[in-house]
Amino acid sequence: MQYVKLGSTGLDVSRICLGCMTYGVPDRGTHEWTLDEEASRPLIRQALEAGVTFFDTANVYSDGTSEEIVGKALRDFASRDDIVLATKVNGRMRPGPNGAGLSRKAIMTEIDHSLRRLGTDYVDLYQIHRFDPATPVEETMEALHDLVRAGKVRYIGASSMYAWQFSKMQYTAERHGWTKFVSMQNHYNLLYREEEREMLPLCADQGVGVLPWSPLARGRLTRDWDTATERSATDNFGSTLYQEGDRAVVEAVTRIAGDRGVPRARVALAWLLHQDTVTAPIVGASKSGHLDDAVAAVELTLGDKEIEELERPYAPHPIAGH
Ligand SMILES: NC(=O)c1ccc[n+]([C@@H]2O[C@H](COP(=O)([O-])OP(=O)(O)OC[C@H]3O[C@@H](n4cnc5c(N)ncnc54)[C@H](OP(=O)(O)O)[C@@H]3O)[C@@H](O)[C@H]2O)c1
Repeated sequence: MQYVKLGSTGLDVSRICLGCMTYGVPDRGTHEWTLDEEASRPLIRQALEAGVTFFDTANVYSDGTSEEIVGKALRDFASRDDIVLATKVNGRMRPGPNGAGLSRKAIMTEIDHSLRRLGTDYVDLYQIHRFDPATPVEETMEALHDLVRAGKVRYIGASSMYAWQFSKMQYTAERHGWTKFVSMQNHYNLLYREEEREMLPLCADQGVGVLPWSPLARGRLTRDWDTATERSATDNFGSTLYQEGDRAVVEAVTRIAGDRGVPRARVALAWLLHQDTVTAPIVGASKSGHLDDAVAAVELTLGDKEIEELERPYAPHPIAGH
């Protein structure tokens, strides 16, 4: 495994982050395709053994049970000081007023629930899970800064939003002397490259680390276009993100992987790892072989011609995943 600094911070993270949305009680929350605790634990352990130190979850994943499963596994298999634990806030946790969003009340309540479920005193990276247009950015940024001051959070990050919204939050924090975001967790992969227009240049200019979510387009980059899996059949959000024209990109990945004699997932992840702005893709692994491929991708060097062939068929997409 390789390790890099997260953006312009001094924090070391593994070049592969394990996406823990895959782990959670299937009949809790909205992801019926998740793995239960018994099936999740060996994968979390395997990731640690392969040198993965960076784990991403969210309060909302499987109604908090992802945090519970991941927190317990990391307590059992790792030392807290050795891992970088990231979670998120904004999604709806309860019906009714203040059950979601980025108000001071929601943030203060949700961090304590996350820490309890994770079984830890602090989160390394606390990310806002989208922009909240209903809360003043001053209120959100000051509340996040207070969590850092209180020792509950080491760094703060953001996730999918427009570049102007991210910029507004950053300059608001700077103007008040509050903590700024060190990372952007956004939707970026060979099938969805709209982030190259505004967000990625902004992050490069500002020294913000980039953590792409769904780096394999939720599995579409790993198999023939018309093949379904148990997850893809019930992945409602995933079915809104991609379009028929993406088939040509999947075919390019298939050709290059075939020429190289490696699984397609390795080529698709290696392409992301070659992008200067990308710190660590957040990979979803529901099988042991998925982790093997993610780890192997770190060592796979693509040639300029291969990169050009992978990028050529791309067709612009409507903004998706905000
Ligand atoms: N911030 C956000 O809004 C946001 C949104 C989405 C995700 N995320 C984060 O990003 C993480 C990853 O998301 P994701 O699971 O959608 O990512 P992904 O890596 O694009 O997709 C994972 C899926 O791809 C397939 N796959 C992975 N490796 C494979 C391999 N080597 N060979 C064949 N198939 C392979 C599996 O599909 P099957 O299970 O169908 O076989 C797996 O479930 C999440 O866990 C979460 O932490 C964040």
